[in-house]
Amino acid sequence: MPARVAVLISGTGTLLQSLIDAERSYEICVVVADRPAEGLQRAQAAAIPTAMVTPGEFPDRDQWSSALGDTVAAHSPDWVVSAGFMRILTSAFLDRFPQRVVNSHPALLPAFPGAHGVRDALAYGVKVSGCTVHLVDAGVDTGPIIAQESVPVLLSDDEDSLHTRIKTVEWELLPRVVEQLVTRAPIVNGRKVEL
Ligand code: GAR
Repeated sequence: MPARVAVLISGTGTLLQSLIDAERSYEICVVVADRPAEGLQRAQAAAIPTAMVTPGEFPDRDQWSSALGDTVAAHSPDWVVSAGFMRILTSAFLDRFPQRVVNSHPALLPAFPGAHGVRDALAYGVKVSGCTVHLVDAGVDTGPIIAQESVPVLLSDDEDSLHTRIKTVEWELLPRVVEQLVTRAPIVNGRKVEL
């Protein structure tokens, strides 16, 4: 039986597409968005169930997180992958899937966490950036790191060009890590993750 993976998205869903294209030891059991994200159409085209849980429909973040957790849990995932999901998940969600939520971030954490990792890295003037796949905890991109890949920053880069090159690397890295997570039990020892 392939492992069941739920994917959370907010945007165009190119990372989701890389996960769809690489399905082997896992199957994507649901794609959930926090808004009418373009990426939902990619899921529909692949006959994957979709759902939308919009924060504006809930009185506070915890209640939204809890409803998001209900929606995802209804599909019994083994793993949850945040692939371009632009919201902070609170413990109301994370406690439902302990050590089973991973995120892809477009910078080399712990540098440049948050919603503007590419822009912040560029503004700082770093010569190397990249992407990080990490376990999600209740902080902002603070969970234990599973894998990272570097990407050189060019003097000619703007946010779009750098993000595009980083995404090209994410499209390889994230499906590879998810494949490894579902086929081996990762050992998490404090901040260290061994696959
Ligand atoms: C990816 O670069 C992902 O790392 C980033 O959003 C992009 C999603 O692209 N996520 C974050 O910045 C989360 N803080 P996509 O919508 O084309 O898949």
